[in-house]
Amino acid sequence: MTNFWDKLPKNFTVLAPMEDVTDTVFRQIVIKADRPDVFFTEFTNVDGLLSKGVEKVAQRLRYEPNEKPLVAQIWGNDPEKFFRAAKLLTDLGFDGIDINMGCPQRDVVKKNCGGGCINVPSLAAEIIQATREGANGLPVSVKTRIGVKKIITEEWISHLLKQNLVTLSVHLRTVAEMSKVPAHFEELSKIVELKNSINPKTKIVANGDIKSMNQADQLFEKYKIDGVMIGRGIFENIWVFNRKIDPQKIGLKERLNLLLEHVNLYEQVWGNKKDFNALKKYFKIYTFGISNASEIRTKLMETKNYEEVRNIVANIY
Ligand SMILES: Cc1cc2nc3c(=O)[nH]c(=O)nc-3n(C[C@H](O)[C@H](O)[C@H](O)COP(=O)(O)O)c2cc1C
Repeated sequence: MTNFWDKLPKNFTVLAPMEDVTDTVFRQIVIKADRPDVFFTEFTNVDGLLSKGVEKVAQRLRYEPNEKPLVAQIWGNDPEKFFRAAKLLTDLGFDGIDINMGCPQRDVVKKNCGGGCINVPSLAAEIIQATREGANGLPVSVKTRIGVKKIITEEWISHLLKQNLVTLSVHLRTVAEMSKVPAHFEELSKIVELKNSINPKTKIVANGDIKSMNQADQLFEKYKIDGVMIGRGIFENIWVFNRKIDPQKIGLKERLNLLLEHVNLYEQVWGNKKDFNALKKYFKIYTFGISNASEIRTKLMETKNYEEVRNIVANIY
């Protein structure tokens, strides 16, 4: 099976997996603005994926072919379930499988899942091996942090690099830091040094607080990383992956057109499967940085259904 990571351009970009955000509809809208080189799904629990209630998690795995290369991200603590989940995801046509070893939610960490894996390196290695066996040649990657309570880059990243991963995405904070302190970019020197000495083939993707391609270019230049992963930055600039677009030059009308496309596609794809109110978290994307937009923002946040959103936009037109 081909390893798409090897075919990416130098200095590639990834949209970070974000629970309840990066679903197929959002990925379609990001494609309209300008796509990253790689998309990830939201994280999916392996127990849920293998249970009878699979329909509940199936929404997370829905995609359209133009979202490829698309990596399915999974989490859990039972290697055998990772093996079976990997088989299933391979059959579903994903281009890669990523293991979440960074989620900071307390109940997740407590069970040695997500960021909790950092506390149990032997389990992490078993999970990677089991996933690889189930993935049948599909590339397996890990997204992690640099420690649980303390920064332990040397110890933890070395351990992961010894597992022969195709790609390692590192959110440059500890689990305890959540997203509350600035990312520790300086750790990238150490990470790239470790990669060069332990496993030069593993691609390193930097994540945390990256907000623009200008900033990304500086990181590429300074640290010689392979890729950047942008998460919350997309809320401030949905055109973030487009080097040619200055978001300040995009007027309200163009923004609202994209908002309408988002609303229409969300309704068409999810219907009653997802709550209308869950759509509201995206609204700020379309008015971010626009002066005098607070009134529109307030009105949009007060809407109760799709039609009301469309009416507000029509009135502005
Ligand atoms: C709303 C939200 C949901 C997230 N869900 C996931 C997830 O499902 N899997 C994951 O690995 N990280 C998840 N993250 C973490 C992001 O992928 C990323 O590591 C973090 O936001 C730091 O990058 P940023 O500063 O570019 O946002 C989530 C972050 C946010 C804000």
